[in-house]
Amino acid sequence: MCDAQRMNDVRWAVMGTGRIAAGVLKHIREAEGCVVTCAASRTTDRARAFADEHGVPEACTYDELGNRDDVDAVYITLPNHLHVPWSCRLMEEGKHVLCEKPLTPWESEAERVAEAATKTGRIFQEGFMYMHHPQTPRLVDIAQMGEVAGSHIGALQFIRGFHCMDLRVPHAWTRFSHAMEGGAIMDLGCYPFGFARLLTGEEPEEIRAVARWAPPHEGEALSVDGEAAVSMRFPSGVLFAGGCSMESASGVYLKLTGSWGSVWTGWPYGPDPQRAVLHIERAATHPQGPGSSEEVIEQGGERFTNQFRDMAGAIRGEVSPTPTLAWTIGQAAMIERIHRQIGLEFTPPDHCGT
Ligand SMILES: NC(=O)c1ccc[n+]([C@@H]2O[C@H](COP(=O)([O-])OP(=O)(O)OC[C@H]3O[C@@H](n4cnc5c(N)ncnc54)[C@H](OP(=O)(O)O)[C@@H]3O)[C@@H](O)[C@H]2O)c1
Repeated sequence: MCDAQRMNDVRWAVMGTGRIAAGVLKHIREAEGCVVTCAASRTTDRARAFADEHGVPEACTYDELGNRDDVDAVYITLPNHLHVPWSCRLMEEGKHVLCEKPLTPWESEAERVAEAATKTGRIFQEGFMYMHHPQTPRLVDIAQMGEVAGSHIGALQFIRGFHCMDLRVPHAWTRFSHAMEGGAIMDLGCYPFGFARLLTGEEPEEIRAVARWAPPHEGEALSVDGEAAVSMRFPSGVLFAGGCSMESASGVYLKLTGSWGSVWTGWPYGPDPQRAVLHIERAATHPQGPGSSEEVIEQGGERFTNQFRDMAGAIRGEVSPTPTLAWTIGQAAMIERIHRQIGLEFTPPDHCGT
């Protein structure tokens, strides 16, 4: 399983040894221009064990990562409260960073990461893998076409977006921790709420949100949101309604409705790599008359593999990072506003001093 390195490959370290790190490793290896050279954990023993289990050549602690000359870029898969400090520190130490979502619930912290990227000249990407499957730019096209020939939906008016998944399982305990900046909005809502920003290309001018609290995580006094319902209005007048839950049966859905039709998918964040299907519903007002059809995106690729391929391209200066730093700052700003609406306050950040 050892990665054969080619010249100009981006040499990745995976930081953290949880489920996402283990699951995504093979997709990094499958990504063009990428090789995995190192695994990092809080302890040397755990790093070594993870590296041996997954065929990664080198292992080290988090603190040692920045000094390694066999690592160009770090994939941060730590709990949420560690995302910003480690992103800043690693960029200061010369590494490019792909940090798992959500980067942070604070706009000012996202700005600090953007400043660190600009100052150091390192590439930073927030890990929203769905943006790297062609279904996503296609949905953005559909959303922004307006009433022109060939448009499925006409002028976009309404977006519905949900991400619900039962995370009351032992391995997902960090999502219930207030100290670790958990909660359904952070873990799941960040997808549909952020998708609405992507589809409109705008920031919400008005946000309303309500939540139901999860029981506090063992040993903690404060709770996070177990479920939340969110509505937003964008400057163009487009409305969003949706929600997220980490305490209910699964339910994932994205639907765009316009002046003459709708398009929806049950796989907005995990489209099929071989055959992603968009369902089109034409209203009576549609120029072609009412009806339904499908649009199929063939061979769009595996979203995580695409994400690492694209990040490697950004590091080589061939493409721009996706999402942009500006989008990531806007995302944090939106999450901060939603949290304020529901009355969720995390411990203020202690700045980049990890
Ligand atoms: N894009 C996606 O589809 C996706 C899917 C799942 C998760 N995620 C994101 O990935 C991140 C990690 O999620 P995860 O489910 O893999 O794992 P997790 O349980 O949140 O923790 C991941 C790793 O962080 C390290 N860690 C450092 N400090 C820790 C602490 N105080 N307590 C516990 N662990 C600590 C541990 O590795 P060591 O013991 O080796 O240090 C642990 O295995 C989250 O931000 C999550 O939102 C994204």
